[in-house]
Parts: sequence; structure tokens; C-alpha cells
Amino acid sequence: MSDKAIEIKSLRKSYGDGEVLKGIDLTVKKGEILALLGPNGAGKTTTIRVLATLLDFDSGDVKVNGYDVTSQAGSVRASIGLTGQYAAVDEYLTGFENLELIGLLYHLSKEKSREIATRLLEEVDLVESSNKPVKTYSGGMKRRLDLAMSLIANPPIIFLDEPTTGLDPRSRMQMWETVKRLAANGTTILLTTQYMEEADNLADNIVVIDHGVVIAQGTAKDLKSKVGSDRLDIVIEHKQDFAKALEVINGEGLKSNEEDRTISINAKTGVKNLQDVLNQLQEAKIEVETISLRRPTLDDVFLTLTGRETAEEVEEEYTKGKK
Ligand SMILES: Nc1ncnc2c1ncn2[C@@H]1O[C@H](COP(=O)(O)OP(=O)(O)OP(=O)(O)O)[C@@H](O)[C@H]1O
Ligand SMILES: [Mg+2]
Repeated sequence: MSDKAIEIKSLRKSYGDGEVLKGIDLTVKKGEILALLGPNGAGKTTTIRVLATLLDFDSGDVKVNGYDVTSQAGSVRASIGLTGQYAAVDEYLTGFENLELIGLLYHLSKEKSREIATRLLEEVDLVESSNKPVKTYSGGMKRRLDLAMSLIANPPIIFLDEPTTGLDPRSRMQMWETVKRLAANGTTILLTTQYMEEADNLADNIVVIDHGVVIAQGTAKDLKSKVGSDRLDIVIEHKQDFAKALEVINGEGLKSNEEDRTISINAKTGVKNLQDVLNQLQEAKIEVETISLRRPTLDDVFLTLTGRETAEEVEEEYTKGKK
């Protein structure tokens, strides 16, 4: 048996004239957590839908659990669990009833369905609310129930499409714990996310996609080393000095936020850079509130790779029609 749970080669997919996947290559080993990281519209959901046999594609070779998604779709479906981007739970049933229902739909006995429902409610940390209707659940609770529903048939591979988007920090942590527990028990997980922090925290490997192209892959450490240098973060004391400070600093990989009076640059020469910048600002009579040198984060990686900072910036580009 191959040690590969998921294998995508040269995957292409168009909608009308627009090619949204432009030759994606990606491999996930058995038991691994892979994060597919990218901004809005990058092609994450499209990739997941192809993997889950829900979407035809134009060309490429896509295998899940060793089965071809086109010619062996049934075997692929029997190997996977899918939690979509939007929770698909019945609001009027309780958490327990939702799970029991799915068990029955899988033709499990009533007894077996209940037994699994009970175990999974524990797994996703919903025991206390198990007998309350789902409409009383928070977004995070619904997400975790949705995940539990995709685990009923005990699939070796699960897909999670943005499992924590819109969740508060505590719910996000709970979801992370659940995902880690599943992986520790040998489940292969492919999750999509827009959050570098999430990929950093959960994933063994990260594939960064943008506009349907893989722009980088590796471990969080590999990707961070791409930025190559530490970052220097400067907070300017007075707002009226901000524009001038930008002119003075003008460093590589510059990122700024006028609202927060922050400027961040690559600090190629570390402490010397820090000294230089301080001297330059002092000469220009610009007061500094704080200045700090730090290791790069995955956010910096994304900026370096795409020239853009975050999902919001990409969305702005889209709405302005620049694409
Ligand atoms: N049914 C469709 N018809 C036409 N275009 C589509 C369709 N579904 C997706 N697209 C386009 O394909 C591109 C990729 O979409 P996709 O949903 O895969 O992105 P995503 O990475 O999941 O984004 P998000 O983070 O917003 O969920 C987008 O430009 C989107 O507008
Ligand atoms: Mg999506």
C-alpha cells in the first residue's frame, strides 16, 4: 500500500472563461495534517470539492486513499468525511439526534448509532449540550457537531473546509484540540484556512495557494525561512509624523498601518538595522513609541510570497476589478 492518502497532479478546473485551478500539485501522507492556505477565492473549496467527488474537473490526476476520484468515486466517498465551509446541521434536532440520524442513514442499527453518537459528542466536547436543540448552539458548537457528523462512518481521511472561520478564540482552540486528537489517532486531515496561525499551529505541512496556483509548500519552519530575515516593528509616537517616518524608513518588505502608527520591515542585518532606523528617525526628529525585532510569522511569509498582506487586501483587489 502507498503511504499517500491524497495525491493531486496537475489539477485544472475552469468555470466558463475563468480558470480557477491552474495546475495544482499536492500530496498528503497518511496520518498527516495538511493545511491548504490561501485568501478568499484562491481555490480552496474548489479543490476540496474535487477531492470529495462533488465537482468535475478539466484535467489532472486526483487520488484519495489510492482511489481515482473520477473512476472510483464510490470508494473515495467511503474513505472520506467532509465538513463543509458552512455547517450542515439540522437546527431543530438536538446534537445527539443529529448524530443518531446520520448513523441511521448509514444503515447502522439504532443501538450502534446511539453508541457512536455518544462517543463522538465526547470527542468534540459537546456532551453537556447534547440534548439541546441545535438552534441554541453557538457557531463554534455547530461547527464541532458538523465535524462529528462527518466522523460517523469512521473515515480514514477527513476534509475540513475553513473549520474555524468566524469562531471566537476559545471556540477556535477547542476545534484545534479536536483536530489534533483525530490526527493523533491516525486520521489524515486536509484542512483549508485563511489563517497563518492556524496552519502554523496544526499542520505538519502547508500548501499555500493563490489564484489557483501553488505558490509555496513545506513545513511552517520552511516557509518562515523563505522570509529569510527577522522583522523590525516600529510604532511611531505621533500620527502627524507617520508619513515622514514612512519616507525615512522605506525598507524592504515594508508593511504599514497608519491607524496603529505601525511600520514593519525586513531586518536583514538584525540589531544593526535597529540601530540605523533609530538613528534615522532621531535625525528626522520623529519620536518612536516602541521598536522591536522579532522572528517572521507566516503572515510575513504570505506578504513576501504574494506582495499582499491578507485576505482583505485580496478582496479589495477583487472588488476594484483589478484581479
Ligand atoms: N460555481 C461557480 N461558478 C463560477 N465561479 C466559481 C464557482 N465556484 C467558485 N468560483 C470561483 O472560483 C474561484 C475559487 O473559489 P473557491 O470557492 O474555491 O475559493 P476559496 O479559496 O474557497 O475562497 P474562500 O476563502 O472565500 O472560501 C473564485 O474566484 C470563485 O469566484
Ligand atoms: Mg472556500
